[in-house]
Amino acid sequence: MFEKDLLAGKTVLITGGGTGLGKSMATRLGDLGANLIIASRKAEVLEAAAKELRETGAGVLPFTCDVRKPADVQEMVSRGLKEFDQIDVLVNNAAGNFVSPTEMLTPGGFKVIVDIVLNGTFNCTQTVGRQMMEQGGGTILNIVTTYAWTGSGYVVPSACAKAGVLAMTRSLAVEWAKYKIRLNAIAPGPFPTEGAWQRLVPPGLGIERAMKKRIPLKRFGEHQELANLAAYLVSDGSGYINGEVVTIDGGEWLKGAGEFNDLDKIPRSVWKGLGALRKGKGKQS
Ligand code: HXC
Ligand code: NAP
Repeated sequence: MFEKDLLAGKTVLITGGGTGLGKSMATRLGDLGANLIIASRKAEVLEAAAKELRETGAGVLPFTCDVRKPADVQEMVSRGLKEFDQIDVLVNNAAGNFVSPTEMLTPGGFKVIVDIVLNGTFNCTQTVGRQMMEQGGGTILNIVTTYAWTGSGYVVPSACAKAGVLAMTRSLAVEWAKYKIRLNAIAPGPFPTEGAWQRLVPPGLGIERAMKKRIPLKRFGEHQELANLAAYLVSDGSGYINGEVVTIDGGEWLKGAGEFNDLDKIPRSVWKGLGALRKGKGKQS
């Protein structure tokens, strides 16, 4: 669906790019010609991913970095610039999450998620953003989630942090437009990944089945669907989209929001019966 060289000559930094959705986005963007910097805490995971990603033909720099630490982030950007001269795109994808009743959280449990998701995104955005200002522009894509605006029980630290990232996206889309820096976000619904499923979908409780049932399209997202959306949003072809959040969830959050959406449980025969009743009443009056 894209020109093969859509992102040729661009360098993309993806945090959490060694696993899950980050790796899938890296694969697609590399496939479309971008050079890649992938960063997270686990060197061995990054090295293995880099080996695979090089098969797309991309130049790949794996860099061990804890996004919570500003010094790590600065070092990552310096090293990335040495390798590729500039950074055109930042994808803030790294995250932490777990399910817990909120009253059982410790202060450390709340802090660790907010530190990775919100502070980590700020550290990368500010450091790469300064570089983009020097270069004359760039694009930043933040991966949030649909409960960034609805909130969600049992993942309160993540919901608070993702809401903050969404506010950051919209704020800086306006503040940094003068530097030709665009910021957008993607809000995925459920996409199976080892990281998310291990922490959020404990086996044996029927959670996965219930999740799928709630989605109007009755299936989870495919990684390639999200990776294609990311490719579009970081490409020059989307140059007038700024400050937007694009939902990719098969209609899941709207299904929960619309007052009468549960009426799809009513069988067609009952609707027909109700229709006949209504018409019959009309004749009598
Ligand atoms: C309650 C927990 C906990 C749990 C950790 N903590 N796990 N509290 N329930 N399951 C608390 C600890 O008690 C501690 O607080 C604090 O959190 C820090 O714990 P550490 O284990 O030291 O943290 P760390 O080693 O830094 O690991 C961070 C992590 C871990 C977030 C806890 O899960 C991780 O590395 N995650 C990265 C990948 C990830 O989470 N991927 C999923 C993204 S999915 P105290 O007070 O005791 O010190 C996603 C999808 C959303 O976001 C939407 C899906 C539809
Ligand atoms: P994942 O594979 O667990 O991805 C999280 C990544 O973040 C890992 O690569 C992890 O690597 C990295 N990371 C965590 N803490 C870090 C830190 N302090 N510094 C640097 N990197 C760190 O899970 P995923 O499902 O692909 O999630 C990717 C993104 O999509 C996240 O933003 C998530 O919130 C979002 N999302 C996912 C879903 C879904 O259904 N999968 C739905 C909505 C939103 P290390 O452990 O090596 O550091």
